Order: sequence, then structure tokens, then C-alpha cells
Amino acid sequence: MICTSNKKKFEEISSMLKALNIEFVKPPYELDVEETANTFLSNAYLKARAYYEAFGIPALADDSGLVIEALGGRPGVYSARFYKEEFGSHVLKEEDYNLPKDDLNNLKVLRLLENEENRRAKFVSAIVVMMSNSQGIFGEGELKGYIAKEPSGSLGFGYDPIFIPEGYDVSLANIEHKNEISHRRKALNALFDMLKKVL
Ligand code: IMP
Repeated sequence: MICTSNKKKFEEISSMLKALNIEFVKPPYELDVEETANTFLSNAYLKARAYYEAFGIPALADDSGLVIEALGGRPGVYSARFYKEEFGSHVLKEEDYNLPKDDLNNLKVLRLLENEENRRAKFVSAIVVMMSNSQGIFGEGELKGYIAKEPSGSLGFGYDPIFIPEGYDVSLANIEHKNEISHRRKALNALFDMLKKVL
């Protein structure tokens, strides 16, 4: 079971796991797991464990986000809800809150970096697979890059339109082979051999 309500994330992960020849399913319903930890790995563990306990089948959870050097590592584990965070909230105006969440997050990042020359950033993914109450495996991956000056592209999701991977001159939302280079791919690669053995 792939524990995510994010359709794009589900598609990305299940297409990367095709080689395992196993059918991955969505949870019958979404659990409201509070991501209270301050690392991606611990939050992925909290999610995978909660889903394993609720549904009793092997549960794969990813916790991921964008880490920006000039913002001291933010949005980090707060990536999904960055638009709601107190940090940097002064750059958003009341009318901005009518935008879809992803656009609002991107706008907040771009405004916070408006006069910033250091645009270095990375995507981080931690993946935990719980096989039983006491057996789990994990993998982590990173994709380094830069924050663009403005959004572009229509592929992917989240911060993809404002993230330019190292070695490219376009945003991740323009790159059709994202799944071959992404932080999530690297995290899955790190646990793939072990996953083959335990599944
Ligand atoms: P999570 O569902 O708690 O792991 O939240 C992850 C958040 O990080 C998402 O809502 C996105 O905003 C961001 N994120 C994670 N991975 C990606 C990616 O591959 N592209 C763009 N944004 C991402």
C-alpha cells in the first residue's frame, strides 16, 4: 500500500516500483496522521506505521520537501503547509490566499528570495516501508538545485515549477523524465534491493 493522498506522488511512486511486479494499492481511506517530528525520516515512519497499524498490510510512506539554504533550511518538513507558517508570512497579502495551495507556497518562496542571490536548494525524500509491527526498511534521497526567479512548466506538482535541478536550465515542471532523477527515485533506489528481498 502506498500511503499518500497526493495523486501525483502516488503515480510517481507506483510507476517507479513497476519493476517489482507487485500491485500497489491506495489506502481505503486517508488517515489524519500528525507529522509532529522534525525530520523527514521520522515523519515518514509515523505515517507508514499508522497505516500499517490501521490496515495490516505492508505500508510505504514518503515524507518529502524542499530545503532552501538562504531560508535556513525552510520550508523543510513544513513544505506542504508553508503558506500557513508564521515564518515569512509578512510577504503574503490577504488576496494571495485565494490562490491554490501549491501556487501560494511557490509565491511565498519567490517573495522571500526576492533580493537573495543565494538560490541554492534541494528536494529531500525519506521513504519508510513497514512490513510488520517490528520490521521496517528505509531509504533517503536528495536532488540538488536552485530556486528560479519565476514559475514555469506544467508537469509535476508542488514546488516543481520554481525548482531548477543542478545541470539543467529549466524547472522540474518542464522535465519529462523527472522520475529518473528525482529525490524520490533516489530514496527508492536506496531501499529497492532490500524491498525485493522482503516483499
Ligand atoms: P508531504 O506529503 O508531507 O511529504 O509533503 C510534501 C510537500 O513537499 C508537498 O506538498 C510539496 O509541496 C513538496 N514536495 C515534495 N516532493 C515534491 C516534488 O517532487 N516536487 C515538488 N514539490 C514536492
